[in-house]
Amino acid sequence: MKDLKYYLKKAKEEKWAIPQFNFSTIEQLKAIINVSYKLKTPVILGTSEGEANYLGMEEIVSLVKISKNKYKIPLFLNLDHGKNLDLIKKAIFLGYDSVHFDGSSLSLIENIKITKELIKIAHKKNILVEGEIGSIKGESQLSSKKIKILKQDLTSVSDVEKFVKETKVDSLAVSIGNIHGVYKKMPKLDLKLLKDIKKISKNFLVLHGGSGIENKEIKKVIREGIVKINFNTEIRIIWKNSLRKYLKNKNEFKPYKILNLVQNDIEKKLEEKVYLLNSNNKL
Ligand code: G3H
Ligand code: ZN
Repeated sequence: MKDLKYYLKKAKEEKWAIPQFNFSTIEQLKAIINVSYKLKTPVILGTSEGEANYLGMEEIVSLVKISKNKYKIPLFLNLDHGKNLDLIKKAIFLGYDSVHFDGSSLSLIENIKITKELIKIAHKKNILVEGEIGSIKGESQLSSKKIKILKQDLTSVSDVEKFVKETKVDSLAVSIGNIHGVYKKMPKLDLKLLKDIKKISKNFLVLHGGSGIENKEIKKVIREGIVKINFNTEIRIIWKNSLRKYLKNKNEFKPYKILNLVQNDIEKKLEEKVYLLNSNNKL
């Protein structure tokens, strides 16, 4: 079976993007697997540190491996926003396909140093490393608050230049006005900045905070070279709202009958995103 690098390269050449869907429950995982199978799309299954710790990294790796072989579909695992170096190394050791090192709160020098160290370990096992330059604000939740992005939060092109030259990182997460979560007023994406980053960086460019961004904006960033887009909040919102709705049926006690309905609702949302990213029929 082809590896993640193959699909990222293909997406780059053909101008579409691979979705990263985060999950922390079995019905979310089953929904992602079903959609990958049904729409013939590669998918990246994202687990943040919290999500990975909740389900258990060993369990996650086994479940994904079994499903990948059972359905013969390109499912890839990514540790999302890894900050704890022991956990990142554990993900590499257990066989995640990629790890995202979030060094956005560190100085550029420190970010470069740690990213390089991780690349050394990861590349020995053919595992990709995603770095991050700039600070992506917000949390993966629905909020009635407004969020303000300052100039210093955005990716600096000169930092990118130094970072990619020194680290030779595989993928790069950028801050171009994207935020985590769905907030009252969603900021606009800075396409000019993305174009400038692309001139400098030949790496696979990643957009975090896919939830709540207008479809036409998503299409534009894909045209400008984004090849991976992360979604979490919109999946969490469907999970919570559907669960609440189906639990109202006082006569149903079988978890699998309730969670199956939740799963179906999640699948509809994921399908929408796959068509938006145009990653269907790409196997
Ligand atoms: O790393 C995860 C993503 O960036 C999720 O962002 O919750 O806004 O979809 P989101
Ligand atoms: Zn993110």
